[in-house]
Amino acid sequence: IFGPGRPNSRGVNLNVRSQYQPLMDEMAASMEKEHRVGPLLAFEVADDPASQHAVASPYDRRKRVGIVQWTSAEQAARAVDAAWAAFPRWESTPVAERAAIVRRLGDLMEAHMAELMTLCSREGGKLLTDGVDEIKEAVDFCRYYAMKAEELFGQPITLPGPTGESNQLMLAGKGVFAAISPWNFPVAIFCGQVVAAAVAGNTVLAKPAEQTSIVAHRVIELLYEAGMPRDVVQLLPGDGPTVGSVLTSDPRITGVVFTGGTDTAQIINRALAAREGAALPTLIAETGGMNAMIVDSTALPEQVVADVIQSAFQSAGQRCSALRVLYLQEEVADRVIEILEGAMNELRVADPRDLGTDVGPVIDEDARRGLGAHIERLKAEGRLVAETRLDPRLTGDGTFVAPVAFEIDGIEALEREQFGPILHIVRYRASEIDRVIESINGRGYGLTFGVHSRNESFADEIAQKIRVGNVYVNRNIIGAVVGVQPFGGQGLSGTGPKAGGPHYLLRFATEKTVTVNT
Ligand code: SER
Repeated sequence: IFGPGRPNSRGVNLNVRSQYQPLMDEMAASMEKEHRVGPLLAFEVADDPASQHAVASPYDRRKRVGIVQWTSAEQAARAVDAAWAAFPRWESTPVAERAAIVRRLGDLMEAHMAELMTLCSREGGKLLTDGVDEIKEAVDFCRYYAMKAEELFGQPITLPGPTGESNQLMLAGKGVFAAISPWNFPVAIFCGQVVAAAVAGNTVLAKPAEQTSIVAHRVIELLYEAGMPRDVVQLLPGDGPTVGSVLTSDPRITGVVFTGGTDTAQIINRALAAREGAALPTLIAETGGMNAMIVDSTALPEQVVADVIQSAFQSAGQRCSALRVLYLQEEVADRVIEILEGAMNELRVADPRDLGTDVGPVIDEDARRGLGAHIERLKAEGRLVAETRLDPRLTGDGTFVAPVAFEIDGIEALEREQFGPILHIVRYRASEIDRVIESINGRGYGLTFGVHSRNESFADEIAQKIRVGNVYVNRNIIGAVVGVQPFGGQGLSGTGPKAGGPHYLLRFATEKTVTVNT
């Protein structure tokens, strides 16, 4: 939405095949290519067959997307040297120049949309429609952060002072940032982290998720094409124990921007805190959620179900914003569940490259196994409410999990976030609403939340009382739009900064006051 005539496409119409056909034709050309990628560092890296890892497609694990060479600990340490050395030069580069590079990346990603979507689909198992939204979100991040950087970093703010004294407040980059990103938005979140840190004047060491390093590699190639110096942003594919450890233990890392699990954020936090003699770091973390929706008896059941289906099952439930616990007031519960069951019967779980698919695979075998164990446990307890039929031909070589809904007693019954297409339903009585809110707040997560009600004061009151980052009233709870719904949570869900919001870049900046006795 930050470029002429380029609306963000939340809610695309699946039936408009013609809209996608040209993209699909272009995608077909790059569908079978086998990629070979590795670290993109300020220095050359030799081929090392011992550290090369194959990447397979979630929809068919026999299909290889390519080979990724992981970064060694020694290369990661050298990359920190380079980033540290490049910082003063980059930080004093005019913000207009930094912003221009980031805007060019946005234009280049738009021009390479089909190629990036193909990779999102092949590596991340993304649906075509999700892929379109993902690339548009990444482009929006580039344009939005470029615009905000120029506003914030362009001119110092003049502050009052006594006669004979001038006071100015200015923003500058902090130093070296590590950007540790997830596989569920392998372009949008990856790119958002990197460009926010870089446009604010920091040098960046980007570690993409192991599952989606190939598309990340392509984004960084485009960033270099846009004019980004190689020592300012470096790409370090690899695993957490090797690359992540170097990045979080080096005292020269000024900040970490991380999106992923709450447990990992806590490990990063501890590692940063344990560094001897290091400056106090910045941790920008966006983590998990146990996102709930409350539906009262005045809500429209059909609308509720449409929004629940999107919130719980779009992207196979692999969004940190996804709905996990649906609270239904008992007067409407049976009706909502009946419509929900019908809607879940209509969902098609299939190859994400097919336009008729509603739900693609989950990311990998570990994810399928973990979700499967949870599903089996709740089935054994007799809590199944509805389940989408899984075509038996799919189960072999792809990591598919069919959408499923269970009834549980309350959010407290869930030990951990289930990052997939699993919905939990809780019935409540009107008199219990305060206890419901207390237990959602008490669970400690605070990312997204929804309320469906035609009683405006009820919806307002709930929205006020609930402690989360993003509240949605009478709509779905996913798909935050850059610059429109700044996104990020609190408590166990993160340290608070809102990606795509007007204050986000401030978290990557240091503030300096200059007082001159004139
Ligand atoms: N930003 C995404 C959404 O709002 C989730 O990560 O769905």
